[in-house]
Amino acid sequence: MGRRVVVIGSQWGDEGKGKITDYLAEKAEVVVRTQGGNNAGHTIIFNNRKFALHLIPSGIFNPNIINIMANGMVINPVALLEELKVLCSQGIEDYKLFISNRAHVVMPYHIDLDDLYEELKKDHPVGTTKRGIGPAYMDKTARIGIRISDLIHPESLYQRLETSLNFNNMILKANNRRTYDIQELYEEYLKIGEVIKSYVTDTSVLLNKLIDEDKNILFEGAQGSMLCLDHGTYPYVTSSSPTAASVPLNAGISSEHITDVIGVTKAYTTRVGEGVFPSEFEDEIAKQIREVGKEYGTTTKRPRRIGWLDMVVLKHVKRINGMKHLSVMLLDVLTGIKEIKICVSYILDGKEIDYIPADYFEYQRCIPKYITLPGWEEDISKTQRFSDLPTNCKNYLNKIEEILDINVTILSVGPDRLQTVTLKNIF
Ligand code: IMP
Repeated sequence: MGRRVVVIGSQWGDEGKGKITDYLAEKAEVVVRTQGGNNAGHTIIFNNRKFALHLIPSGIFNPNIINIMANGMVINPVALLEELKVLCSQGIEDYKLFISNRAHVVMPYHIDLDDLYEELKKDHPVGTTKRGIGPAYMDKTARIGIRISDLIHPESLYQRLETSLNFNNMILKANNRRTYDIQELYEEYLKIGEVIKSYVTDTSVLLNKLIDEDKNILFEGAQGSMLCLDHGTYPYVTSSSPTAASVPLNAGISSEHITDVIGVTKAYTTRVGEGVFPSEFEDEIAKQIREVGKEYGTTTKRPRRIGWLDMVVLKHVKRINGMKHLSVMLLDVLTGIKEIKICVSYILDGKEIDYIPADYFEYQRCIPKYITLPGWEEDISKTQRFSDLPTNCKNYLNKIEEILDINVTILSVGPDRLQTVTLKNIF
């Protein structure tokens, strides 16, 4: 029977979901992205070549895989066409791609508004990627958004633009920002509609058909669960829900079709942008992790903040996602570190807790409580089997499994597809 597997980020994004999705995509027949937009960034390395994806699902490299950009996404079509152009220049021309007619469009004014809203937050900006993601979702929920379907229906596009610009131009003007001309946008986006038309369809109908045909389907999460609008470190979150629970809604399928949820975590933690991060540290070891792990944003190139693995975060994420498997990434980056810490609980105002406080200031006061494990010196980047790992490395993984009560299913010991250890086959 076909499996429908959700891959989710278990931290604040950038966990290496792209590599796992790409790795699992070899056995999948369909890869679906369900939320977010080009705020995401995956780097995929194979055959000594590096590919960066922001919007397009990771199955794009395999001509047999059906790639779907589902209704829950916000899509900047200009960025999409640019991404396709870059892939084409790298020889990726033969692919199957479908875009939901119900997905929302990130318009140029959303990008200006993203910048403006960050400025208006003064001393407390979210540190967004400035890709217009928040304002596009704001328009969606305010019912003044533009959908992909509008780009191929001239009458709808004009009407939707009129409404959207009535709101958004007013805000831009009041803040001395440039405003947008409806006719110019209308003509430009109709042309874009013509170019992307062949990819556009009702992806919910398509997906349900593929489920009926028993296909192996991968739902590729973008961002991480700690950036979830509902369950993350609000307000320092993204504007969608990168959780397994959001997949059925954002793809137009029944929740009973999901068979597996794999959480992807780094062997440590990183975060970009602002917001609380209890296990963060900045010293020579953090610098070493940042350099060895190349911890700079794929989308914005910002240096990532570094922290030890936080089990309170992982327990929270396991609970809200129903995570059944764990994939541990960038394990090789910890090689050579003498002592490795794991945060097992927090001390809040003198009391030990093992949950994430909803109140932001309470969460900021949490002091991590650590256990310390001995590290390993041996190079693990060519390891193919769990049993071949150094004892201290195995102990580290076993400790994670024990605390989280979960099985580690996949390990990554380097950026290449081949540097992956499978403990249990998902498909
Ligand atoms: P936005 O999604 O651009 O609105 O940014 C909101 C927050 O989510 C910021 O802290 C971003 O750095 C973070 N963020 C958004 N997308 C990603 C991602 O793909 N990886 C890591 N962080 C992200």
